[in-house]
Amino acid sequence: MSDFHRILPELKNILGEAFVFVDDESRNNYAHDETENLHFLPDIVIKPRTAEEISAVMKICNRQKIPVTPRGAGTGLSGGALPQFGGVLISFERMNSIINIDERNLQVITEPGVITEVLQNAVKEKGLFYPPDPSSKGSCYIGGNIAENSGGPKAVKYGVVKDYVLNLEVVLPTGEIIWTGANVLKNSTGYNLTQLMVGSEGTLGLVTKIVLKLIPYPKHDLLMLVPFNDLEKAGAAVSAIFRAGFTPSALELVEIDALKIVSSFIGSTIVPVTNEMAAHLIIEVDGNHLETLMNEMEAIASLLSEFDCGEVFFADDAQQKAELWKMRRRTAEAVKIAGYTIEEDTVVPRAELPALIKGVKELGKQYDFHAVCYGHAGDGNLHIRIKKEGSIFSLNNPDVIPALKALFTLVKSLGGTISGEHGIGLVQKEYMDVIFTEVSLELMRNIKKVFDPNNILNAGKIFK
Ligand code: LAC
Ligand code: ZN
Repeated sequence: MSDFHRILPELKNILGEAFVFVDDESRNNYAHDETENLHFLPDIVIKPRTAEEISAVMKICNRQKIPVTPRGAGTGLSGGALPQFGGVLISFERMNSIINIDERNLQVITEPGVITEVLQNAVKEKGLFYPPDPSSKGSCYIGGNIAENSGGPKAVKYGVVKDYVLNLEVVLPTGEIIWTGANVLKNSTGYNLTQLMVGSEGTLGLVTKIVLKLIPYPKHDLLMLVPFNDLEKAGAAVSAIFRAGFTPSALELVEIDALKIVSSFIGSTIVPVTNEMAAHLIIEVDGNHLETLMNEMEAIASLLSEFDCGEVFFADDAQQKAELWKMRRRTAEAVKIAGYTIEEDTVVPRAELPALIKGVKELGKQYDFHAVCYGHAGDGNLHIRIKKEGSIFSLNNPDVIPALKALFTLVKSLGGTISGEHGIGLVQKEYMDVIFTEVSLELMRNIKKVFDPNNILNAGKIFK
């Protein structure tokens, strides 16, 4: 029996017997997320329903210095929800109500355990749009998206999670409950605690209510797929689109090896593949005037012909669009199963994409790994999936760390950084000093101490 079990009577008293778990099956279910193949068992799993319950739990854990790990749906790709020191794991799955859709103010108040797509569909019924759409939108929780400041394909036009969060109810590691801001569109009132919480990866507080900004739902969207014979040229085409004055609502890149893997994984033949092809761009435009969008698509396609693109494929109907998006959204899962288990989330200024792509391939030769690239090219955010013989994970792995250090040094030299949307969590903390000086890291560690003096909440994440 774990020493942490000493608080079981108090936890059962707060939550009720039915929502406190110590059995092996429950502990195993919450021991992993989608990151590499990592596995850390919590000692106790709890499923609270209210902020008040979480507050009471945090007071006990803080007093007794027991590690606490918050967890959304477990779809994370940096290990943020892994209970590496055991202790109490808080699952938000029962806090899954959309509290209010405020149609007068174009806002929604929600609990954190709502599945992102469920929230999107609920507001869409009112003609409203919450754009951030990570690939896992069908299973991830909005609370996890706040913790990681998630992005997704729409970010290129509409921004990421942080651009929609107006106000948060948060339980602090010491147990107090606060609101970080106000339900307003502008706010210059003191330090921006709301934005400090967004992307803090569950290290500063536990988000229990979320106020999001919404926008009107665009009436139309068009989608096309463009093959390229040269990966770097595909990368170069991306920034040309924006320089020519277009703002697509998605601009994704999928390298051919990744596309072959995911097409066979989902049994799709929608994208014809020839030997000459190196990569595809998926380009979407949206808005309220169909004719304008059609003109825009044609203009973009004609611009792309200057970059040696192949024949453009326009998705004709909702079914074709859905199939192309399925192909894109399931890429990470498919390539992971195919052995590309180490995922990076690099981001560079958009025009540096060709240099990043070229550098990745060179590093692959130097450090003996094979990489496939895909992701949010319009944001300069390239997911690089790595397959290296004998190394299925990167955490504390001396055979992989030098290669990743070299990759991130390249990213930094191009003016970029190591995570665009997946967070640092457990697997990227090794590399924070490639990006930040000790002065910046110490500032961040001190912020952590102010919120969490006993270092109990998601300790050991972000910083070494
Ligand atoms: C994607 C996830 C892995 O873009 O971020 O598919
Ligand atoms: Zn992504």
